[in-house]
Amino acid sequence: MDIKESIQGIKTEIEQSSFDGAESLENFRLTYLSKKGKIQSLFGAFRDVPVDQKKIIGQELNALKQFAQEIFNTAQENLGSSKKSSNNSQDLTMPGEPLRIGSRHPLSLVKNEIVEIFERIGFNLSEGPEIEDDWHNFTALNLPDEHPARDMQDTFFIEKDPDYLLRTHTSSVQVRYMENNQPPIRTISPGRVFRNEAISARAHCIFHQVEGLYIDEGVSFADLKQTLLYFAKEMFGEKTEIRLRPSYFPFTEPSAEVDVSCNICGGAGCNVCKYTGYLEILGCGMVDPAVLENCGIDSKKYSGFAFGMGIERIAMLKYQINDLRLFFENDIRFLKQFSKF
Ligand code: DAH
Repeated sequence: MDIKESIQGIKTEIEQSSFDGAESLENFRLTYLSKKGKIQSLFGAFRDVPVDQKKIIGQELNALKQFAQEIFNTAQENLGSSKKSSNNSQDLTMPGEPLRIGSRHPLSLVKNEIVEIFERIGFNLSEGPEIEDDWHNFTALNLPDEHPARDMQDTFFIEKDPDYLLRTHTSSVQVRYMENNQPPIRTISPGRVFRNEAISARAHCIFHQVEGLYIDEGVSFADLKQTLLYFAKEMFGEKTEIRLRPSYFPFTEPSAEVDVSCNICGGAGCNVCKYTGYLEILGCGMVDPAVLENCGIDSKKYSGFAFGMGIERIAMLKYQINDLRLFFENDIRFLKQFSKF
């Protein structure tokens, strides 16, 4: 067979070759491009080509070699990219990665719940500053300079004479509210408070309180008790009972501390309620007439009650958390447990 015909024959073969994988690609390379391949053997036969034809045959042979190489390269590229895409192939019917949605902090949840419970019976929301002066935190609340009750709260002072401090309780918001509003007053004031205390499982130097204040004509201790019973049942469940114990606060007279029946043992006694069947949740009392007068409210015409509770404490009871520090560590494993509440 003449070399020209051979070149044409191989070219046709190459044009007809198909590739369905790495093996066919390798076969192609061995057949046409390797040293022992068909094209190379034509270069061997080239020696016998008559001189006058060498130029034209040489060009055709080179073109054939280039053609084979191009076909090989293209096939290799196609196979490579389809291999890559099959590795990356995605199953579009698979369920997506779940979005991790943040959850509210348990203290916010409890605060919101407390506020909502009181809003349902006509209380509004009020707030005051965390940096307070002596008047709103102490003096107006019946704690004059040398009053021994000031020892009840270790205070972070910011400035002395005149005194500025981090408020030690949200009772300061009562004072501000009464100074700016006349009865009837029904307000609930959540906020952050500060006390110079060593941090432990039961105490922290920063914590949260909710203050409640109700002032109108003819408000009695019975109203206070009924309001708190309503709150306890809404917060801890319909079966909850409350118990009032006489206590002392400078800004209320009479004063009481309120316990709720233990929601864990139902009052039978367990280690959470220390076998008493009750858990303390708040302090309260009838607003002392002197406090009303300090805030510009006529104590002959109006009376009222106030109460204050720690949000951490309510949250600990509600979710049975035994270490207050967990609220401040912001460990996501702890926090995300509350998203369902
Ligand atoms: N302010 C008190 C405290 O920080 C809590 C409190 C007790 C608030 C009795 C009141 C109240 O409004 O009437 O411990």
